[in-house]
Amino acid sequence: MTLPVVKAGIVGATGYSGAELLRLLKEHPQAEVTVVTSRSLAGTRLDQEFPSLRGQTDLVFSEPTAEALAACDVVFYATPHGVAMSQAREVLEAGTRIIDLSADFRIQDTQLWSEWYGMEHACPDILKEAVYGLPEMYRDDIRKARVVGNPGCYPTAVTLGLAPLLKAGFVDVDTLIADSKSGASGAGRGAKVGTLFCEVAEDFKAYGATGHRHLPEIAQNLDALAGTETDVTFVPHLLPMVRGIETTLYANLKSEALDADLQALYEQAYCDEPFVDMMPAGSHPSTGMVRGINQCRMALHRQGPKRVIVLSVIDNLIKGASGQAIQNMNLMFGLDETAGLMAGPVWP
Ligand SMILES: NC(=O)c1ccc[n+]([C@@H]2O[C@H](COP(=O)([O-])OP(=O)(O)OC[C@H]3O[C@@H](n4cnc5c(N)ncnc54)[C@H](OP(=O)(O)O)[C@@H]3O)[C@@H](O)[C@H]2O)c1
Repeated sequence: MTLPVVKAGIVGATGYSGAELLRLLKEHPQAEVTVVTSRSLAGTRLDQEFPSLRGQTDLVFSEPTAEALAACDVVFYATPHGVAMSQAREVLEAGTRIIDLSADFRIQDTQLWSEWYGMEHACPDILKEAVYGLPEMYRDDIRKARVVGNPGCYPTAVTLGLAPLLKAGFVDVDTLIADSKSGASGAGRGAKVGTLFCEVAEDFKAYGATGHRHLPEIAQNLDALAGTETDVTFVPHLLPMVRGIETTLYANLKSEALDADLQALYEQAYCDEPFVDMMPAGSHPSTGMVRGINQCRMALHRQGPKRVIVLSVIDNLIKGASGQAIQNMNLMFGLDETAGLMAGPVWP
């Protein structure tokens, strides 16, 4: 019996997350990339830009027009914010579904979105039906969605790390701290002084300490999990490495939860999740343990009577972007959720 194959388009296939979609979908048993777009390289063979794919593809970059994308079953937007929402209506009208890796369909409050992203939302009606693509939170809704707003990389690591504690009501929701560090690929492939080798190598710094664009998205998730307004401090840092996010999360336990078995709480919460690995108590997960794979690995620690610490690591380009997007595609098209996503990590 031949299995149905999902025809996928990638808008922004020259970028880092677009390239990771290409690499992962190439191995997917039930998906085929049929359209790759780039405004700057339209007409160029894909393997000319990515010699690592020589011998494996005959695709040629095209312009990102709605007509070119209409023949796809699903389009991944691996583009800066503002692109997916400007094309969404036409693409949906052609019967094509959308997985947007940018922030266009992540935040339901359009006014808040405009404040952080500096533009009006182009299609609030489509935003309303869009589902936030964190399968561990919204799996059933994702299955039915026409539009998925794929989560940001930091919000994925933070949300998965705090979810069991918040759902159980075990922590004071105004004591949450997310101290997050990312490799430089998180900033995308476009040339910027801040991510030049000489600026990043042998250096380490925080940025966005007074407020980063992922803060409202993190707050939206944590509020939903806690069922009340939370107060989270989120500070991202730029690491002198290519990929990976390590997030150290802090919270104060409520007095009634001081003796709770938190390790059991987390193991129970994630035992059926194919892409979340609760490590043994006392572990220290590292970014190298998830390099190139769709996994969030985490571990719990206690310090002092009240403080709980969660260490959460992901690959920003995989569970933080392209792998999670494929996980969402699998759900949307009724495929095995893990299809194409079970390759092992690259280590060392
Ligand atoms: N990097 C990460 O770790 C990460 C993680 C989670 C989410 N994201 C999000 O995913 C999206 C892509 O990120 P990235 O890091 O892969 O970006 P990137 O490396 O900078 O690539 C951006 C891609 O978008 C295309 N593009 C730019 N402007 C466009 C436009 N107006 N219309 C059509 N295509 C356009 C570019 O190609 P052309 O200019 O040739 O068309 C390029 O292929 C962003 O929204 C980012 O915030 C990234």
